[in-house]
Amino acid sequence: MNGPDSGVTGTVTITLDGTNRSLRIPLMPGSIGPSVVDIRKLYNELGVFTFDPGYGGTAACESKITYIDGDEGVLLHRGYPIEELAEHASFLEVAHLLLNGDLPNAAQKADFERGVLRHTMLHEQLRSFFNGFRRDAHPMAVMCGVVGAMSAFYHDSLDINDPDQRRISAFRLIAKVPTVAAWAYKYSIGQPFVYPRNDLGYAENFLYMMNAVPTEPYVVNPILARAMDRILILHADHEQNASTSTVRLAGSTGANPFACIAAGIASLWGPAHGGANEAVLKMLSEIGHVSNIPDFIDRVKDKNSNVRLMGFGHRVYKNYDPRAKIMQRTCHEVLGELGIKDDPLLDLAAELEKIALHDEYFVSRKLYPNVDFYSGIILKAMGIPVSMFTVLFAVARTVGWISQWKEMIEDPSQRIGRPRQVYTGPTQRGFVPLDARG
Ligand code: ACO
Repeated sequence: MNGPDSGVTGTVTITLDGTNRSLRIPLMPGSIGPSVVDIRKLYNELGVFTFDPGYGGTAACESKITYIDGDEGVLLHRGYPIEELAEHASFLEVAHLLLNGDLPNAAQKADFERGVLRHTMLHEQLRSFFNGFRRDAHPMAVMCGVVGAMSAFYHDSLDINDPDQRRISAFRLIAKVPTVAAWAYKYSIGQPFVYPRNDLGYAENFLYMMNAVPTEPYVVNPILARAMDRILILHADHEQNASTSTVRLAGSTGANPFACIAAGIASLWGPAHGGANEAVLKMLSEIGHVSNIPDFIDRVKDKNSNVRLMGFGHRVYKNYDPRAKIMQRTCHEVLGELGIKDDPLLDLAAELEKIALHDEYFVSRKLYPNVDFYSGIILKAMGIPVSMFTVLFAVARTVGWISQWKEMIEDPSQRIGRPRQVYTGPTQRGFVPLDARG
């Protein structure tokens, strides 16, 4: 797991050629993974910035929450492998782990679950926010709006400097986001909102609010509830990805946690990030049949086509995404439970995966299936509409976002995030009056 340069200490010296200026820069080791070059003094001492668009080589913070080794396909939360958490823990145990640093004992678990469950209801006035949206609004648009609006309703937990208020905000977000998500769905199909039930588990309650109607009893299938719980675990956190970095950047200004999480939801929406599982299903239905795969692969490889194999590739993983393997297994379990013997989409996905894993284009670029390749197929089989896929991701990731936000606020070295740039525009010039412009 440790790369050859893992834990290296010492210094790096940067010399500006042609001058007599140089700087010895300390290397900061992590507990595992590559050390980082601490360039904080670089600009003051040498007058230069670093350039790293997309931040592929930049560590923006210190964190004790999640570790990824993209070459080996390893994902650890607070040291625990994702495979073990997905197999043995519940989503709320993982939430406790991410938020508080360790798995809860029995008493802590009961306490944490009570803490979350007592906050599942939305302020009744928040209901009217939903009516402001068109029925065909994308539920992610509703999520951004309603979660942002929560900062106008929970004034008693907005003081980010009060640890108790931070804790209550975390509970509120983890507890209420599934209710917002389920109501966004109910609104889109014109059904009455279903209130949360605190006698149900977290994933079970979410499925209940999504699927129940007031006119008849509804019992959630326990296998599907467990599968949903596992899907939530697999999406709970993934270190400093785009949406988490967005939450941290927004939070670094002192913005309240509800506003920060709304920013994270907006960032997650894009097809290169959380929108990918929705895009995978669209892609599979566009391909339509196994016989069309070779044509499709040719288009993916054509640099002028702008077509990508959705659910493949990852900025960090240059190996099989460990979450994708668990997702693939869960997919078979869910389809088995639902009695779906032949799912054409699953057949198509399996064939596409087989071809891509052997094709030189994908092999040489180390493009492997990511977590989203199979999640869409499971969710579709569970009856979750495609437009809700990214919403579900947001429900799960809220736990990661709020844990990372809390860690940042509690870090004494935290300051406002403010990247710099290399300016390549015009140099200073005089104003040209309108009648003198060509
Ligand atoms: N299909 C085809 N080619 C790809 C793909 C893909 N899915 N992903 C990367 N490539 C190619 C690029 O064209 C590029 O080729 P080149 O070197 O010949 O120019 C090379 O692989 C490197 O690609 P980058 O875009 O530099 O990789 P980056 O790390 O910036 O992108 C990303 C990562 C955005 C995830 C990309 O792989 C992608 O678009 N995948 C599809 C969308 C997707 O599944 N996103 C989900 C990510 S996981 C998550 O958010 C939960």
